[in-house]
Amino acid sequence: MGKDVIVACDFDSAEKTLAFLDNFKGRKPFVKIGMELFYAAGPQIVRDIKARGHKIFLDLKLHDIPNTVKKAMAVLSGLDVDICNLHAGGTVAMMQAALEGLTRPDGTRPLLIAVTMLTSTDQAAMENDLWIEKPLPEVVMHYAENAKKAGLDGVVCSPLESPVVHERCGAEFLTVTPGVRFADGAVGDQKRVTTPARAKELGSDYIVVGRPITQAEDPVAAYERCVAEFVG
Ligand code: C5P
Repeated sequence: MGKDVIVACDFDSAEKTLAFLDNFKGRKPFVKIGMELFYAAGPQIVRDIKARGHKIFLDLKLHDIPNTVKKAMAVLSGLDVDICNLHAGGTVAMMQAALEGLTRPDGTRPLLIAVTMLTSTDQAAMENDLWIEKPLPEVVMHYAENAKKAGLDGVVCSPLESPVVHERCGAEFLTVTPGVRFADGAVGDQKRVTTPARAKELGSDYIVVGRPITQAEDPVAAYERCVAEFVG
């Protein structure tokens, strides 16, 4: 799969999501389904969006004991999504078990990527709450290297981290990057943002864009603008 724009469909019902996707007519954007929509609408929304011809990144961020994650991933692989994810904090053993579970009897599987340290966790929270006393960028890179070691395909990270992730984990190791805003757009609650064009320069493989598209007056135009800037 090449560079692409993934639209974060952070809606609380199947109806709202399908009405939003109807705007795109013949266009079939790559869609991210997160916890909000999945918990509201269940696995059927994944099948429905897939049946409409979209690629899907199922962003459920699994984190549990290896056996449980393995079994859950086996269920998710039956949904025929294109990308799944988990927390690298679940350990290398958990990530390896996840890959096993995700792999279908015919050897195919969705791509599997890891969340390193959530971008909502800062140095103080990491030290005070998690008792991890290392510089946060080093922790992020260590988690990325663990994901690589476990055989995963990439990580979710900031576009600003894409160059160093590629340097340390290889050019083929995918960087899927939220925190993208238009130069003239609202930043919202995202802290460190880049434009789609800058994300491209930094080497991101996929950008994940939510509100700049979902809340736009013309979501299709906003999506096309992202594609033009990021994919060219
Ligand atoms: O609306 P916005 O463009 O900020 O949406 C970004 C999407 O990426 C949201 O679904 C958010 O949960 C997700 N995400 C993120 N930062 C991370 C991981 C995921 O913004 N570190």
